[in-house]
Amino acid sequence: MSVALEALAEEAFDKAFQEEPTVVSRAPGRVELLGNHTDYNGGLVLAAAIDRFTVVVGRTRPGREARAIAANFDNQKDEFAIDGLDRDRSEGWRRYVRGVVWAVQENYGPLRSGFDLAIAGNVPLGAGLSSSASLQAALGVFLLAAGVVPGGEAGSTPLSDPERMRLAHTLRKSENEYVGVGSGLLDQFSVLFGRENHALMLDCRTLEYERLPLGNPAPAIVVCDSKTARRLADGMYNRRREECERVVSYFQRLRPGANVTQLRDISPEDLQAEWDALDPVGRLRARHVLTENERVRRGAEALKRGDVATFGKLMSASHRSSRDDFQNSSPALDALIEAAQQSPGFLGGKLSGAGWAGCTVNLVEPDKAEAFADSVRIEYARRMGIEPAIHVCHAADGASGRAIQV
Ligand code: GLA
Repeated sequence: MSVALEALAEEAFDKAFQEEPTVVSRAPGRVELLGNHTDYNGGLVLAAAIDRFTVVVGRTRPGREARAIAANFDNQKDEFAIDGLDRDRSEGWRRYVRGVVWAVQENYGPLRSGFDLAIAGNVPLGAGLSSSASLQAALGVFLLAAGVVPGGEAGSTPLSDPERMRLAHTLRKSENEYVGVGSGLLDQFSVLFGRENHALMLDCRTLEYERLPLGNPAPAIVVCDSKTARRLADGMYNRRREECERVVSYFQRLRPGANVTQLRDISPEDLQAEWDALDPVGRLRARHVLTENERVRRGAEALKRGDVATFGKLMSASHRSSRDDFQNSSPALDALIEAAQQSPGFLGGKLSGAGWAGCTVNLVEPDKAEAFADSVRIEYARRMGIEPAIHVCHAADGASGRAIQV
């Protein structure tokens, strides 16, 4: 599939620059399997990279200019000086491109030269599948593989895990400080650390991680896009963060000197003990986050013993907790989950990512994935009058780059 994307990006590149690109990189999208809104609370997440990709092709050029083409957006072009990037000028995909260039230079030092590139992708946009982190990682790996990053190796050397982690933090910086979205590390980590047929567990506090086998044959990861707009999602996301922080402040006042900085520092027993004194909204949010951490722990244990059925049940429990306690579901997302529950091969499912709209993610027995997709499509359309988009995916490798053989 990414061969076709590479061809598309190369065609756009040739057309714009009348030259052949010399480096290609690609990065997958991601789904969050368990651990909804735990990342910025210092908690645990279980995610997987999926086989939908952003591909970047390009080459270095002398001087301090960069030119970029977006094949999926009618070959729109951006052209900018790589030094002194101004955070507020660009919009849409251009902002992500410039943000990565800015953050890479902040963390690694000034780039050695300018570059030309073209981007093509098939990660559904705005659906909660981290198309933006995928774009960021493809760009970041392109810059490393092209040899323009100081200290970066040119060529096809696979990135080591420490290099991936450094890049993940850099991309997060771009998202937080350049694009202006206060997200955690989950998305950038997942698209960089993915592995075929594996899930990824990340402790967002210690940054310890583990790749966990999804089984053999691995279940399909079926993403159901509700096709509902995420207009409110950014505002609601920040509000949820504040609600979580309010609970942290409460415990800070209760126990000065106890070094409580995130919900991770509060145990389920602490929460229970203060339940009546806590504000009624904050305590629900905290209960979701704390029980969700526990589901991630149990989910990781289940995968280690090859028990995908239990893992699926934990995903469904996660959805209920998001819906009832964190309140970031929607009628459309609930309808998708209810449709999934009565469809063939369903092992478990939940909303994925920020919530309020976008996608659900379901684990489905591999040989029933198509029947599952047909059944959800019919039932969701019947209930909501909306045709969903359904993507049958599999856990994929994280971002990579290489020289193009001529
Ligand atoms: C969005 C954010 C992630 C994470 C999820 C919720 O996808 O980008 O960092 O907070 O929401 O788990």
